[in-house]
Amino acid sequence: MTQSTWDAVDAYFSEQLVGHDPALEEAAVAADAAGLPEIAVAPNQGKLLHLLALTQGARRILEVGTLGGYSAIWLARALPADGTLITLEIDPKHAEVARGNLARAGLDKVAEVRLGRAADSLAALVEQGVEPFDLVFIDADKPSNPEYFRRALQLTRPGSLIIVDNVVRGGAVADADSTDPAVVGTRVLHELIAAEPRVTATSVQTVGSKGYDGFTLARVQS
Ligand code: SAH
Ligand code: DHB
Ligand code: MG
Repeated sequence: MTQSTWDAVDAYFSEQLVGHDPALEEAAVAADAAGLPEIAVAPNQGKLLHLLALTQGARRILEVGTLGGYSAIWLARALPADGTLITLEIDPKHAEVARGNLARAGLDKVAEVRLGRAADSLAALVEQGVEPFDLVFIDADKPSNPEYFRRALQLTRPGSLIIVDNVVRGGAVADADSTDPAVVGTRVLHELIAAEPRVTATSVQTVGSKGYDGFTLARVQS
């Protein structure tokens, strides 16, 4: 099986289970038109994030890595009217596109894009002693995954769910000799999780329109 099969299956699932969704389609078109990289989650992956947020009964969601706000729309749609999503983005153009997309999706009341280095924004959230988040989605620069995960632990509570995207990268994660900073970051993340008694976690490989990749789910236990 190859990429064209994975594309066809993703197209089939997305057609059956996501369907026509103007806000999401407009968000993807606006991101393309602004020249953003095509690295947002696929529709059926976005819906998985949405379902996980619903399952969590999430009222507060934190996202690291906004891009054009595509995954943020999926996540924010799971929130109650008085819920909050904070999404962190370093690139002013990405943040601007995301704000437009979230507004067009009717989510600007619940979703806020914070511009800056995620490491700084996360430190500020910890410093401010904000209420814990029920779900954290980590999807920014992969070398920083260990730091983002440590911060996520400081910003969550027992029962919270931490999700990390792109942990497989075509299988590169299994290469212990890799010097690719993204791979090293993801391997250090797994060492951190393995040694962390406060979480129980698993990682799953995926194929689809985004290629061969995967994600990690970690539930905060204590
Ligand atoms: N979650 C998005 C995709 C995010 S792509 C979606 O699925 O729709 C990764 C994003 O992280 C990019 O927009 C990139 O600009 C941003 N990013 C990269 N390094 C960052 C950093 N140090 N701090 C904050 N954002 C960063
Ligand atoms: C890249 C980043 C992502 O978050 C993703 O889902 C796919 C690719 C990247 O930086 O190449
Ligand atoms: Mg990603």
